[in-house]
Formats: sequence, structure tokens, C-alpha cells
Amino acid sequence: MFNKRLREYINKNIELYNEYEQIFLEGLDLNYLKRYKKNMPDIFRQILEEIGYYEDCIEESGYQAFIDLLDNEFGLENNIIEVGGGVVPTLGHKISLRQNKGSITIYDPRLSNYFHESEKFVLKREKFYRNTDVSEADVIIGFMPCEATQAIIENAVDKNKDFMIALCEGGPHGDEFDYFEDENEWLKAMLYIAERGLEDNDMGDLKILSFKKYNSSYPIIYNKRNQ
Ligand SMILES: C[S@@+](CC[C@H](N)C(=O)[O-])C[C@H]1O[C@@H](n2cnc3c(N)ncnc32)[C@H](O)[C@@H]1O
Repeated sequence: MFNKRLREYINKNIELYNEYEQIFLEGLDLNYLKRYKKNMPDIFRQILEEIGYYEDCIEESGYQAFIDLLDNEFGLENNIIEVGGGVVPTLGHKISLRQNKGSITIYDPRLSNYFHESEKFVLKREKFYRNTDVSEADVIIGFMPCEATQAIIENAVDKNKDFMIALCEGGPHGDEFDYFEDENEWLKAMLYIAERGLEDNDMGDLKILSFKKYNSSYPIIYNKRNQ
């Protein structure tokens, strides 16, 4: 049943993806996707969510666990900025469906027209930077936002905004990252910037939670203010 839904989704939405991704998607089936036990590429993860694959399945995409943690730590009925929402902003949309008040604004140059925006579900097809205006936000989040991780942390600590990020391997690829030797060095640098920023701005402690149970080898980080 899910292979059929997968084919239907791909046939209907193939134009959302770039040339390279289209080559992968053309021949995709569920057995191939099942090989990704952990660290499922975001494009595939979003599609499996959109076709309802995770609804009655013991596997988890990780989005739900992230949303529940966000709800516990900061609440969902806030003005939330999500950075690096992806081609299909599945996480942001799920959050939006759970909000009775507040809003979610999603930044990603790759955002497609898959969902329609509204006053409470704002799609910004642009990059997020350290100096992006976040004055209206209560919390800034990123779910495996690759190179945007540093901009989220720096912007949040500069402006004293709460943040939560599910980290990924996506730091040191591309020219911008020649500065870092490898992925570990990048990860350590992100944790260091976060810890220093929280201390300097009196924003509480850095919490680092294992995300392994939910299909990622990388942790979730966020700030916990002192009561
Ligand atoms: C690995 S994908 C994660 C997508 C989505 N969060 C998910 O997991 O389903 C990383 C995304 O971050 C976006 N991105 C990278 N740098 C960014 C920046 N500075 N501002 C906004 N988006 C950015 C990329 O375009 C890409 O879609």
C-alpha cells in the first residue's frame, strides 16, 4: 500500500525536487528506504511523513519526538521561527496544526509551494542569518538544519531567545566549512559557541539529549533557563 502511495506522491510532486534528487526519486521504493535505519535523508523523511507511513508504524521519523520535547520545554503556543524547514516543511506544518495560538515562521530558500501559507504559518523562501530579525520570536528551532546551525545559535544568544536544535552531520560540507577539519570539530565548535553564548547572556544551561532512539546519531540541544 505504501509503495503505491509513494509512487503517487512522487508522480504528483516530482517538480518540487532538483535534477539530482529527481534521479533518486524516480526509482525509489520502500525496501530501499528501509535500509536507512538512522539518519534518513530529509527529503525521504518528509515524503514518508506526507504519505502517512509513520502513522501506524513502530519506526519514528523523529519529528514527533522533537515536537513533544519542544512542547515540554518551551510550549508550542508561541511565536516560533523554524530554520531550514526543507523542501516540504513537514515539521513546521505539524507544529502549526498543534498551535491554538502563536505562529510558526519557516526559513529555507528551498521551501516549495507544497503547503499554502497563512498569517500563522509563514513561509520565508530565504536564508536565515545571524542578523536576521527575530524580535517577534519566542523560540528559534531547527531540525537538522545543517550549516544554518551556527546562525541559529548565534542569533539566539545575541538576542536572548530560547532555541532548540536537532543536530545533524551537515556541518562541514561545502566551501563555507573549509575552516573545520571534520564533522567532529564542527560539532564541538557548535557546542562551544552555544555554551559560551548561554553563559555570557545568562540564558541558563545547555542541555544535550541523545536522539538515538528516534533515528538520529546526533543529539538535540537547547537552553534551559534557571528558575
Ligand atoms: C537536512 S535539511 C533538513 C530539512 C528539514 N528540517 C527536515 O529535517 O525535514 C537542511 C535544510 O536547511 C536549509 N538551510 C541551510 N542553510 C540555511 C540557512 N542559512 N537558512 C535557511 N535554511 C537553510 C537547506 O536548504 C535544507 O533544506
